[in-house]
Amino acid sequence: MSKTSIKPINRVFSCAPMLDWTDRHYRYFARLMSKQALLYTEMVTTGAILHGKGDYLAYNEEEHPLALQLGGSNSIDLAKCAQIAAERGYDEINLNVGCPSDRVQNGRFGACLMAEPELVAECVDAMKQVVDIPVTVKTRIGIDDQDSYEFLTQFIDVVKDKGCDEFIIHARKAWLSGLSPKENREIPPLDYPKVYQLKKDYSDLHISINGGIKTIEEMQSHLQHLDGVMVGREAYSNPFIVSEVDAQLCGMEPRNLTRHQVAEMMLPYIEQHLKQGGRLNHVTRHIIGLFQGIPGSRGWRRHLSENAHKKEAGIEVITQALSFIDS
Ligand SMILES: Cc1cc2nc3c(=O)[nH]c(=O)nc-3n(C[C@H](O)[C@H](O)[C@H](O)COP(=O)(O)O)c2cc1C
Repeated sequence: MSKTSIKPINRVFSCAPMLDWTDRHYRYFARLMSKQALLYTEMVTTGAILHGKGDYLAYNEEEHPLALQLGGSNSIDLAKCAQIAAERGYDEINLNVGCPSDRVQNGRFGACLMAEPELVAECVDAMKQVVDIPVTVKTRIGIDDQDSYEFLTQFIDVVKDKGCDEFIIHARKAWLSGLSPKENREIPPLDYPKVYQLKKDYSDLHISINGGIKTIEEMQSHLQHLDGVMVGREAYSNPFIVSEVDAQLCGMEPRNLTRHQVAEMMLPYIEQHLKQGGRLNHVTRHIIGLFQGIPGSRGWRRHLSENAHKKEAGIEVITQALSFIDS
């Protein structure tokens, strides 16, 4: 069994795993803006990896450091997938214990696993046995009526004992029935103090916070209490915020990138994608928020939405869209 060497990862800031959003194109784009951000794949189920027809683990080398998020609860399958992923060069394996969708619950994984800490621990253990890269868990602060601090700490106690390298806590609980996944990201209230308390009580554990974080100032404030911040929707809808991470959160020299430069840096990548038979809008859908809040951004968005899906659309659509932005 081949084991990969441990590469140190900066865990101060990460882009959250988001199905359909954080695919390899988004991750390439995010990486242009931050060298330090830890990027997560969308959740990939063990079934897809072990029995699916496509290559669900493909990524661009530039994306490192890159974590694969797995969905599953069969420890043997998870271990197989973790091993395959480590051999493919992933830098971390993360287990999804936060998704409340019906489909995921029917497969007995995601957020419903919070009620089965022993099973999660067994899964973490099985993965840690076969890989040398970190194995982490992304979870919520509770599920349904099981939302006490004790419920959360019981979960952490059992899972940490098997060597979970980091807990990423989405600071709201999930309702397993009655709410859609989208509502489950909005309706249950955020409880940041509960996550801060967890770090106080488990100072040896690496704990990152997730949920509702929108600005660099908010990130800096969370980092007074915690080891890391994970940002999802804001890093997608207003992606240029990722360009501030290295200097503002990781103490690196500012690169002073402009939005225009980032758009232009995407062009060779997009040309390559088109040459390989891909469509322009596979990539442009992820960069549409690049100019959010900037005069002309509506024109940029509209031009991309109206043209990038066309069969023959090439990178000229992007240069035309850029002309709408006031410089
Ligand atoms: C479109 C979308 C897809 C998501 N897919 C996943 C997923 O595959 N795995 C996961 O753990 N969380 C998933 N999430 C939840 C996010 O990772 C994150 O926990 C949540 O959006 C809260 O963080 P935010 O307020 O910074 O967006 C998804 C969220 C969105 C908006």
